Amino acid sequence: MEKTSFLLSMMVAAAFAATASIAQADESASLEIEGETFVTKTKAPAHAENLDEIYSGWVFRADETQTLQTDDFDNPGFVFVDTAMDLYEEVDGTADKACSSCHENVEDFKGLRAAMPRVKDGKVQTMEEIINNCRTEHMGAKAWKWSGTQMSSMVAYIGLQSRGMPVKVAIDGDAKPIWEQGKKLYYSRFGQLDMACSNCHEDNYGNMIRADHLSQGQINGFPTYRLKNAKLNSIHGRFKGCMKNIRAEPFKEGSDEFKALQLYLASRGAGLTVETPSVRN
Ligand code: HEC
Ligand code: HEC
Repeated sequence: MEKTSFLLSMMVAAAFAATASIAQADESASLEIEGETFVTKTKAPAHAENLDEIYSGWVFRADETQTLQTDDFDNPGFVFVDTAMDLYEEVDGTADKACSSCHENVEDFKGLRAAMPRVKDGKVQTMEEIINNCRTEHMGAKAWKWSGTQMSSMVAYIGLQSRGMPVKVAIDGDAKPIWEQGKKLYYSRFGQLDMACSNCHEDNYGNMIRADHLSQGQINGFPTYRLKNAKLNSIHGRFKGCMKNIRAEPFKEGSDEFKALQLYLASRGAGLTVETPSVRN
């Protein structure tokens, strides 16, 4: 290991240790939204072999952040759900259609988010790709940017239809090799800090890293409204941020690497409930 990266690793190690005793969040709190109780901790699925229990990222957030998610009027993510409700009815493209022209009831998408991403004909399919496929192939409209406001809002609106349902993605059959690729990436070290996702989210969840309380990096809450940037954040946008933080060159949003990682992470969260749109810091 070269000297700078060694020093940086030591800095990270010091950051973990120095503040490990500061308890910021109420880890025993239970999440209820509109009278419905969410599964924020449960037994880990067998294929997440190094974990006994899995926890939603909500568990590790400070009290005030947790509270914002318990009421849809306080949850700033719902501003974007409203945006998506308008977009859903808006005619766009050469076919003169809106989403609602073909999908009259958005409730019909109930269950879809809980099973995403899915693998079709040997390829991972994310919600972003399904939506853009409808825009370009069925509407004659332009594709939306992966992490743009329109896309994140629509992904949240469709995801909301599955809120409260347990995550359950298929990882067998032709999903298996992609899942294996995602797993490999999860445990691979990247960047100047030479760290893997697992070093933070598996080995150190529950500890503090500087001012941040580390979670297991679950994705059941995405898209997530972050107080830090005051917008909805996509799953791949978050992966990018974490890779930048370890001074690695991130993969691209929509890349095969991030899609494989997404499938693997979704499978590690099997049994947690969909919280879309969640609130994080
Ligand atoms: C002209 C009709 C048409 C329009 C308009 C349309 N879609 Fe679709 N949509 C389809 C068809 C057909 C499918 C089935 C798969 C396919 O062929 O792409 C589909 C599939 C989907 C699915 C996956 C459903 C499932 O359970 O697998 C979602 C989600 C979706 N569309 C969302 C949207 C959104 C959001 C919009 C607006 C941006 C939209 N669609 C516009 C025709 C349309
Ligand atoms: C140096 C430590 C570190 C590494 C390595 C790291 N992350 Fe993170 N990650 C964080 C911190 C800090 C947060 C914000 C607090 C939290 O939710 O854990 C975070 C948040 C997340 C979240 C959001 C969880 C939620 O509930 O909102 C996801 C998903 C995530 N990381 C995935 C990854 C992936 C995938 C990798 C590997 C490519 C990775 N992280 C590598 C530190 C790290």
